[in-house]
Amino acid sequence: MSASPAQDQERWPGLEIIARGANRLCGRDPAHPGACLKFELPSGQRTPVGLRQRLRRWLGRRFPALGDNRTELRAWRGLRERLGAQLDGRIAASHGIVATVWGPALHCDCVCLADGTPAPSLYRLLFEEPRYPAEPLCAAVDAFEAWLLAHDVPLFDLNAGNLVVVPAGAGQPGGGLRLVCVDAKSVVTDKEIVPLSRWSRRLRRRKIARRAQRLRQRILNALSGPPSLR
Ligand SMILES: Nc1ncnc2c1ncn2[C@@H]1O[C@H](COP(=O)(O)OP(=O)(O)OP(=O)(O)O)[C@@H](O)[C@H]1O
Ligand SMILES: [Mg+2]
Repeated sequence: MSASPAQDQERWPGLEIIARGANRLCGRDPAHPGACLKFELPSGQRTPVGLRQRLRRWLGRRFPALGDNRTELRAWRGLRERLGAQLDGRIAASHGIVATVWGPALHCDCVCLADGTPAPSLYRLLFEEPRYPAEPLCAAVDAFEAWLLAHDVPLFDLNAGNLVVVPAGAGQPGGGLRLVCVDAKSVVTDKEIVPLSRWSRRLRRRKIARRAQRLRQRILNALSGPPSLR
């Protein structure tokens, strides 16, 4: 069950909330405008999920190392070790777990627009505040998929809430827009019981291509045609 803004203000007084995902709440770090803080939600406020995900959440509550924040931190550090600065502008940096007045949080770079406001998630641009047509968003998915494949990054959870959208720099591919991943957990977590795509590069590439295609289809369904047919 999600909480109301009033309940959020009671639990996180004074925090400027950016957005909620299924598992965490993200707010701006008051001490560092370019950073954000992610808090793991109590179990009653997370969105309902299947059995394997419930088991993962249960483990995360008992063993903090398996919680969402430490999982994302582990995923980002592993990628950073292998890819270094090539991650810049593609996957938001995670810096560590910090103690805050609201409790422990993951300290990350906040992906922002030129005016300093947090970049909108693709989810928001599809279902809450459409701002761009489908074509440049699909082109941005093409470019992100090409980057994942070029660097063999096993980021499989290409859901619209895990990607934020920023204007691409001049001369960059992506139809004028660029996607930045703000949730790298899926690099180290598996939804399958036998994670074949972890072991085979060919299967990994096929899975990324499938997920990117599904995301493009989702964009087209959400933004193309008259609202009644979407
Ligand atoms: N580094 C960031 N910069 C800007 N916005 C962010 C950042 N991290 C998260 N957000 C915002 O917070 C939202 C939720 O973040 P995130 O995907 O990390 O939560 P989650 O609950 O772990 O996700 P999931 O539902 O995939 O488990 C994102 O959709 C995005 O709007
Ligand atoms: Mg997410």
